[in-house]
Amino acid sequence: MEYKIAVIKGDGIGPEIVSEAMDVLQCVGKRFGHTFRFQEVLAGGCSIDAYGKPLTEETIAVCKEADAVLLGAVGGPKWDHVPTEKRPEKALLGLRAALGLFANIRPAMLYPILAPACPLRKEIVEGGFDLVVCRELTGDVYFGQHYRKESERGWGEVGCDDMNYSVYEVERIARRAFAMARVRAKKVTSVDKANVLETSRVWRETVTRVAKEYPDVTLEHMYVDNAAMQLIHDPKQFDVILTGNLFGDILSDEAAMLTGSIGMLPSASIGESGVGMYEPIHGSAPDIAGKGIANPIATILSCAMMLRYSFGLAEEAEAIERATQKALEEGWRTADLAAGQGTVCSTHEMGTAICKYI
Ligand code: IPM
Ligand code: MG
Repeated sequence: MEYKIAVIKGDGIGPEIVSEAMDVLQCVGKRFGHTFRFQEVLAGGCSIDAYGKPLTEETIAVCKEADAVLLGAVGGPKWDHVPTEKRPEKALLGLRAALGLFANIRPAMLYPILAPACPLRKEIVEGGFDLVVCRELTGDVYFGQHYRKESERGWGEVGCDDMNYSVYEVERIARRAFAMARVRAKKVTSVDKANVLETSRVWRETVTRVAKEYPDVTLEHMYVDNAAMQLIHDPKQFDVILTGNLFGDILSDEAAMLTGSIGMLPSASIGESGVGMYEPIHGSAPDIAGKGIANPIATILSCAMMLRYSFGLAEEAEAIERATQKALEEGWRTADLAAGQGTVCSTHEMGTAICKYI
């Protein structure tokens, strides 16, 4: 089969890590007899430099035409001074909205071999953990109105961001989470702040109602502050964490670090149907960009998710996951994973090692 992939390398370490991921896909193609056709387009800071805006109609069109989108990372200090509407991050949010990608799947599991890089005590993570954050991606305070006004209390300028969730938005993401839990450990932890926020009360009521459609799945509700603590205290208790856009952004970074490095976590953003977007959860890491030392694993594992979710190629996806595990077992470590032990390899060496094991 032939698959069309729109590639957005983006800024910072984006180009380095995406190149490795593209090589890995080519290896998979060779081994399993598929053709992956890449079409590179710009988004983020590099698009601002080239076209004066972070996301062009052309980029959106190419992504819509493709079978899937592979994205590195966008943003960096170079564009920190640009007006809000033009920030590189707008490209990411714009793409998520334009492609209708309301479900963001962020699996976090501890590879036993990386246990030394996990910041938690050995007893806490003994036997590993395997959880997935199911984050709503096109709603919440991210997509409410952002504006400023004059304080009614005479306190000067006020920044306002409208946080809202409709029943419809909560229902569709909740169904995704329950369906996912069904083929996993059958537990959903819905994370909100229903003791304070009206948004969260709508969220909790709706999730509770949807849960009735999935009687084989256990539902539990947790306040976000407690969830942040429980992730550190006992990550093994979680299976599927269902949460909104903002809480999901925060908790998925936290979950990522539990796996040893934020450089390990892939993500899939999917909609009702149509094209999915696959990207590492980490950012563009401008401090290490261009040095060839970034960890490409999150992006490579995002490709595995692409094969599985967008193309239905489960065996090929597993080949990438197994090869990644094998590379780690054989001692390949980028700087973020080394935890002061062993030799440190480059971005390209890690990519090459994974290709070899495919
Ligand atoms: C992520 C990122 C983005 C987000 C930023 C870059 C807009 O942190 O994908 O988690 O907040 O969603
Ligand atoms: Mg984030």
